[in-house]
Amino acid sequence: MKRAGKIFLENVYFEYDDSPILRNIYLALDEGEKIALMGENGSGKTTLSLILAGIFKPSKGSVVIDGVSIWDVSEKNFRKKIGYVFQNPEDGFVADSVFRELAFGAENFALPSDEIIIRIKNLIEKFEIDTEKSPLELSGGMKARLSIASALATGAEIFILDEPESFLDLRGKKALISAIDDIAAESTIIHITQSSKIAKNYDSTYFIQNGHLKTANSKSFRKIEPPIESLKIPARGSLLMRLEDISFSYVPRQSKILKSISLEIHQGEVIGLVGSSGSGKTTLALIIAGILKSQKGFIDKKCRVAIAMQFPERQLFADTVMEDVMYGPENLHLPDARISAEKSLEAVGIFSELWNCSPFLLSDGQQRRVGIAGVLAVQPDLLILDEPFATLDFDGTIRVIEIIKNFAQSGKAVLIITHNTNILSKIAHRTVAMLNGTIIYDGETKTLLNDKDLCERIGIASIDDNYI
Ligand SMILES: Nc1ncnc2c1ncn2[C@@H]1O[C@H](COP(=O)(O)OP(=O)(O)OP(=O)(O)O)[C@@H](O)[C@H]1O
Ligand SMILES: [Mg+2]
Repeated sequence: MKRAGKIFLENVYFEYDDSPILRNIYLALDEGEKIALMGENGSGKTTLSLILAGIFKPSKGSVVIDGVSIWDVSEKNFRKKIGYVFQNPEDGFVADSVFRELAFGAENFALPSDEIIIRIKNLIEKFEIDTEKSPLELSGGMKARLSIASALATGAEIFILDEPESFLDLRGKKALISAIDDIAAESTIIHITQSSKIAKNYDSTYFIQNGHLKTANSKSFRKIEPPIESLKIPARGSLLMRLEDISFSYVPRQSKILKSISLEIHQGEVIGLVGSSGSGKTTLALIIAGILKSQKGFIDKKCRVAIAMQFPERQLFADTVMEDVMYGPENLHLPDARISAEKSLEAVGIFSELWNCSPFLLSDGQQRRVGIAGVLAVQPDLLILDEPFATLDFDGTIRVIEIIKNFAQSGKAVLIITHNTNILSKIAHRTVAMLNGTIIYDGETKTLLNDKDLCERIGIASIDDNYI
């Protein structure tokens, strides 16, 4: 029986500036209890978890861990109890080498060095982490694996996992589930998630609604995750973009990240781009968008391309949401920039009450929506979405699917990078699969996702996998 990791929150309130986010929160968790925490984008999940972690101080109420109010104990003692996985993996990075990153938290917990080494070795193996690169040279999914492994290396009594699965590929998700199993006997776990499949593995599920924390029942799950309807996609039109024999390396004369890529994109197409973490999807997308330049090959571009980045805060920069979304159309001297920005924001479900806020004060899911609105506003002919569904709640997911459908139906094209093959099976009539920097499949989505062996080789979930 565990003797530490008991959590008690009573009458907790929190506001950003003057707008109330959490009200009268009550939460009592026993040592070793494991819960899922759900709720819409911007509902306050991350805020609540940062209060639990002692990073945000509530305006009212008490946070007690193992019988001690966390604002009474020295920060050092309290922090040793909690391992935290940030929603955006880059937010937690402090070191310039993978080893140092993995050791940092564990060293702060003052664990003996031989124990740290054993833990790190196991986690590197479990999460298949490339130790040759610096953390910022890893692909998005590999960064997520490193950030999870760094938190787990601490062996904390309480783990707060803020949507750790968002950027993981199939192998990463399997490693995460197995790692959670490993710590389950010893730790209290609070797992924030948008996936009811994940939530069902926990003792109980809570959700935040209108600032209040409630326990979920089977009815609330149905509301959170209704089925997605299959979309009819029109046939392909004329050529928008052609890539021929493209090769690329980040570091000149070092190993090629993309090898001899050839690809055509036509009007009216919705194309999925899949592959395991580090296979080169984001790199290829950045080349198509013209952000990276290939060292070899030929690109015939007949259209305007815009990309919504894997980590949206990379593309947000202005003082307000509206200025950010208007920047693109204004910069391109498009007529009616304001109208275009308003329409785009409404399409992603960001309404006028948030238009004058700083984009950096929004939740990760809201930032993703603003990032997508920003690229919609430039009215591209080819829209590239890199992991558009990561961190989105159900409403956001449905809105983005609707946007994709409208795009294709108006004769434009969409390229979607995602590990969510369940959504792809319904909306992409063609899928391109990458393996180690080459395209190994380019054809009908359903044919690919029905081929279990091929999916396994590529490292993606097939239709039967029904994975998280
Ligand atoms: N800025 C960079 N500098 C050096 N190497 C990089 C950089 N960005 C990515 N890489 C490397 O290029 C390879 C492909 O990465 P990429 O981000 O394209 O993968 P991905 O398929 O998008 O993966 P994920 O599903 O994890 O997002 C990886 O080996 C990665 O480590
Ligand atoms: Mg990527």
